[in-house]
Amino acid sequence: MSENQLKEAAKNASKHAYAPYSKFKVGCALLTKSGNLYTGCNVENASYGLTICAERNAIAQAVNQEGSIEIEKLVVYTPTATPTPPCGACRQVIHEFGNPTIVSFCDKSESNSHKASDLLPHAFDLNKD
Ligand code: THU
Repeated sequence: MSENQLKEAAKNASKHAYAPYSKFKVGCALLTKSGNLYTGCNVENASYGLTICAERNAIAQAVNQEGSIEIEKLVVYTPTATPTPPCGACRQVIHEFGNPTIVSFCDKSESNSHKASDLLPHAFDLNKD
């Protein structure tokens, strides 16, 4: 699966976002090491803190389908002027499932790419097997 296909899937996912409060529609597409694609959008709530980010929604979809997953690449689309990498909470949740390349993109400039471990150095880890 090419990066462009992942970008297209992420942008499409953003169209499903439920973001009546922020109006900020985010989409995420991730590729598992097993070669499968999962997408997610943000889902807001009137009790704002209950909002689910697009990245964590995509991860939940993947775990729901496959159980144990390792993420190869995760692509995030934001409606911004510059590419906007995942929030801190999502970085910690991504860390649980490997050290993927995280690609952030928007409509208005070039995308950027980081390893998850560069976005969240010294992540919390229980040293699980
Ligand atoms: N949001 C995401 O979906 N992913 C992030 O990494 C950061 C923020 C969502 C949450 C909320 O619905 C909206 O963007 C504005 O914060």
